[in-house]
This record gives sequence, C-alpha cells and structure tokens, in this order.
Amino acid sequence: MNNRERDQVTVREVGFEEALDTVMPILRDIKKSLRRAPKATRTSLEQLTSVKATPKVTAEITPISSSVKKPAAPAPIPTRSAAPNEKPATPTSTTRASHSSKDQVDDGRLPKLEELKKNILTCTRCPNLVSSRTQVVYGVGSPFAELMFVGEAPGEEEDLRGEPFVGRSGREVLDKMIAAMEYTRNDIFIANVLKCRPDMPEGESGNRKPKPAEMATCLPWLREQIALIKPKVLVTLGATAIEGLLGESVTMRDVRGKWLDYNGVPLMPTYHPAYILRNQTMAEKRKVWEDMLLVMEKLGRPISAKQRSYFLPKA
Ligand code: URA
Repeated sequence: MNNRERDQVTVREVGFEEALDTVMPILRDIKKSLRRAPKATRTSLEQLTSVKATPKVTAEITPISSSVKKPAAPAPIPTRSAAPNEKPATPTSTTRASHSSKDQVDDGRLPKLEELKKNILTCTRCPNLVSSRTQVVYGVGSPFAELMFVGEAPGEEEDLRGEPFVGRSGREVLDKMIAAMEYTRNDIFIANVLKCRPDMPEGESGNRKPKPAEMATCLPWLREQIALIKPKVLVTLGATAIEGLLGESVTMRDVRGKWLDYNGVPLMPTYHPAYILRNQTMAEKRKVWEDMLLVMEKLGRPISAKQRSYFLPKA
C-alpha cells in the first residue's frame, strides 16, 4: 500500500468526528502561534465534511496532508437542473419528506447562491474582523430549505471549522432540536447575522456579542441568502439575532413563541441554544420545544404524540 492509499484508508476509518478531533488542536496551536490564522483550514475541513456526507466518494478524497498544502476553491453548492417538462416541486405540507436539494428543482437560485457564497467568503467590509477571523462562516444546509435558523455570529469553534453552531451549544442543543423535528442539517439552512467571529481583545479568549453596527454592515448578506433560499419559516435564536435581522431590541421573554414577520416570511423567535445550555431545566427546554412545535405546524409537518410530549413532566 502506498502513502496515498494509506492516507485514504485512514480518512475512511477514523470517521469525521475523530478526524476533526485530530485537526482541531493542531489548528488551535497554529492560530496561537501566528498573528493571522491559517487560511488553508477551510479546504481541509470541507474535504472532511465530504468524507462524512458521501462515504462512497471517500476513496477519491485527497489525503488531508496534501489538501492542507494546496488550498482549493470553496465547496460548490449542490446543483440539480430541472429535467425537460418537469413540474416544479409542490411544497410538501403533510409528509415528512426531506427538503434536501435532491428533491427540488433549480429555479435559477443555485448559480446565484454560488456567486453569493464566493462574495460572502471574500468579504472585507469590516477590516477588524477580516484581520482577526480564520474564515468567513457562510452557513450550512440545503439551498432549498423550507426552514432557516438564524443565529447571531460565529464563535471560536465556528471560526475554526467554517460552519455555524458546531460548538457545544450547537452540538448539544441545536442539533438535538433539529433531530427531534426529524430534520438533518442538510434539510434545513443555518446561518448567522454576522458572518465573521467578533474579534476579541488581544490575549482574551471566549466570544463576544456582535455590535449593532457590525450586524448592520453584514445584514445584506443574510438578506440575500433568505431571498434566494426562500424559506417558508425563519427561526431566530436569541435576542441578538432578532435585533440584527429586524433592527428591534427585544426581550426574549416577551417575543418567544409568538409569530413575527420578516418580509412576509413567518419568523419564530426562540431562545439561543447557549441559553438552554446554561438553563437545562425541563421547563426551559419545553418552551423552546413548544416554539418548534409551532414551527412544525406552520410547515404542515406531522407531529407524533411522542413529539408533542417531549419535555413535559411525566404523568
Ligand atoms: N452562536 C451563534 O449565534 N452562532 C453560531 O454559529 C454559534 C454560536
């Protein structure tokens, strides 16, 4: 077995999570030792993502070691053209069918989203964030998503991995919520108002809230994503996301669970996953889950008795 084959077998066998576990400490060390973060990381992580998503293609994947040395273009958005005479897909209202791109007909949005992605990934509107970021976090999911979650801004993990909500609150709260709704990350779309991690003062770790001016500068990108993806329902996560998207300062206690409107799209505000991580009571989890039940009803998704009873006290 030559080196290349050995690398490929290694990628196949360790799996996505283990591969990331290996890569992340290396990235953190590189980031600590450089003033500017390495730019090649996106490529290597996108290669890893495709290892996870399409096992059959794994054998053709370039070994991680060589992909780090040779940065490639951002992963293309999956495309599917309409067959001749094919009718546009009718929005699913009563089935649990996924809304991944393979079920949908391209109405011209895919090249536009591809172009938008390129522009977002190379944005230089905020010089302070350009110099502090590892990469821009575009968003993740289906270009045809019926449901879009909107958070505030990438944190440290998201900045390193180039994907929203991959830190603790994402993995331990948002991902579970998505699974409980019987979606996967590939069926929906997840984005943030601010696409770059807010910069931290020299020597300080952790994350800070995006400033209103930073969100206002970045907002046109999210607005374009929403306009092209055309979700049927938006869910904002936390008060900062509503403030960024609607320009209104709100208290979550007042707005959560009530439908708002974004340019004609029903918008459900709910708590930020990090809030739930800090307040892990059944009562708080139930509030978020009730918001998601409203979302599922709005989307016409069937809801089982078991789903209706999540986070209720046992009788
Ligand atoms: N918090 C957010 O609002 N967005 C992320 O992507 C991660 C944490």
